Amino acid sequence: MERDEFLRSLGFGLAMVCTGSCFSGCGKGSDGPEKPANNPPPSGGGNNGGNNNTVSVDLSTQLKAIGDQVVSSGVLFFRIAAGDTAASFVATEAICPHQGGSLVWKQNISRVQCQLHQSEYSTTGSVLQGPQGTSGTTRALKVYSTAVTGTTLTATKA
Ligand code: FES
Repeated sequence: MERDEFLRSLGFGLAMVCTGSCFSGCGKGSDGPEKPANNPPPSGGGNNGGNNNTVSVDLSTQLKAIGDQVVSSGVLFFRIAAGDTAASFVATEAICPHQGGSLVWKQNISRVQCQLHQSEYSTTGSVLQGPQGTSGTTRALKVYSTAVTGTTLTATKA
């Protein structure tokens, strides 16, 4: 009887040792030290410029009148003044940072507005009105630098 009790206790102890090593092994595997601390934004899909950080539109066919707007490769372009200079245009991210609503330029109120919860942003990206009828807050919009070369308007994503 004493031998049986000894073997049972030995088995229990062995099981505890194995369980402990499994837990420590699993813990190391799931932490994934090679995984980046922050999820990088997805790379920006198509672009009409020369590299992955630029998006271009053709001013000979688009953005001809003040208030006109177009979305291309995740960038919302809109015209705020006459003339084909960089200062005549604004380029922002096209998706609302709150919960992904579509953004549009509202010329009559001079604001970028989210179509999902009506957050509103200035042309410099600052938040003028937060989300309506829902919880949470939003952040300032990313505003991209613009340049005009000939009839090509280019936004550069930083
Ligand atoms: S998604 Fe734009 S305000 Fe909510």
